[in-house]
Amino acid sequence: MNNFVTHLECSLCGAKFEAGKVHNLCHCGGPLLVKYDLGKLRQTWTPEAVTSGPHSMWRYAPVLPPVNGNSIVSLGEGMTPLVQAENLGKSLGASDLWIKDEGLNPTGSFKARGLSCAVTMAVELGIKKVAIPSAGNAASAMAAYAAAAGIEAHIFMPRDVPQSNFIECKAFGARVTLVDGLISDCAKMVAAGAQSEGWFDVSTLKEPYRIEGKKTMGYEVAEQFGWQLPDAIFYPTGGGVGIIGMWKAFAEMEEMGWIGSKRPKMIAVQTEGCQPVVRAYEENERRSRFWDDAHTVAAGLRVPKPLGDFLILDAVRESGGTCIAVSDEELLDAGIRLATDEGMFVAPEGAACISALEKLLQSGFLKPQEKIVIYNTGSGLKYLEAYSTRFPRNGGEQDKLGGLVTPR
Ligand SMILES: Cc1ncc(COP(=O)(O)O)c(C=O)c1O
Ligand SMILES: [Zn+2]
Repeated sequence: MNNFVTHLECSLCGAKFEAGKVHNLCHCGGPLLVKYDLGKLRQTWTPEAVTSGPHSMWRYAPVLPPVNGNSIVSLGEGMTPLVQAENLGKSLGASDLWIKDEGLNPTGSFKARGLSCAVTMAVELGIKKVAIPSAGNAASAMAAYAAAAGIEAHIFMPRDVPQSNFIECKAFGARVTLVDGLISDCAKMVAAGAQSEGWFDVSTLKEPYRIEGKKTMGYEVAEQFGWQLPDAIFYPTGGGVGIIGMWKAFAEMEEMGWIGSKRPKMIAVQTEGCQPVVRAYEENERRSRFWDDAHTVAAGLRVPKPLGDFLILDAVRESGGTCIAVSDEELLDAGIRLATDEGMFVAPEGAACISALEKLLQSGFLKPQEKIVIYNTGSGLKYLEAYSTRFPRNGGEQDKLGGLVTPR
């Protein structure tokens, strides 16, 4: 049992909440963050001790929510490869370029980290029914962990979600509703069901533990570089939990004396069809405005108004980073270029970061010798519809599966 959690704290008004209870948002509407006694932890836990832990994100259990070791719901999430992209780096003019490949997580995306933690805590708190609005990958991950935990999963996704997400959720036995609208419309339906059906709402940042799982991406990159941080991190930003989580991880590590005060430039990448965070950054605002008519093939970035926009923007500004948008055409080109150069087939969200990197090297924002890490948040295999626009097959071929002509 981990007993280093002191309380939960509102990221907007600072109100404190007791740990070990079911919580969603603060009464002021702010997301809650989990706080630990890092001073005490510093005396008992070291970076060296991490390496003897399990080969999953649960090696960081002392800075994860308090669970009884036996109740962890794990499918082996985390400890993903950090691969040097030498060929692509050469052609782009970046000599120290790395890709953190989150596509190798269970269900093929980094969402596994957050949902392993959230479902573990749901089980710990006696919750039997969970519900989520999702752009796709969070739904797949929640359905998988709920199946592993034996609890009921209710999924609300846009009707045009990638086919992989729909089929995964159905295969995992979740109750799936396809919604004519965006994730914001799905969120309203989950909130209604939470009231009427007693579901626990696992929406991004309305639930305090997904971020704790995702922050392990920050611990892991430090561990993989020998407890050093890179000069810049590119992160495809939808709800922004990845950036917010990593930023929290860096602060925790500094407080434990594991790293110094230097931070990577945090670079939030969005797409031209949905860039509320980029617009707020450019307009010097702390909150974003709802992005109308959001559209992009990078389904995970189709979040018109992230709840934690101010936390994303704070991290970007404090780090000396920036926010940048790329077009769908550019990101598909970049994804194919990465695949050809490095043998890595990444999600459009990860590919967007390659395109953003190219622009920031050209503008001189980044220098060729800087150590740069791109987070590829998902596997390209989950996005065959998006990439198939570049590689259409001859008439009728799509209908053949394993040599069989599928019925119409
Ligand atoms: C592949 C992928 N990348 C990035 C994101 C955005 O994640 P975050 O909420 O951390 O910004 C998503 C969200 O659905 C996603 O599925
Ligand atoms: Zn508050």
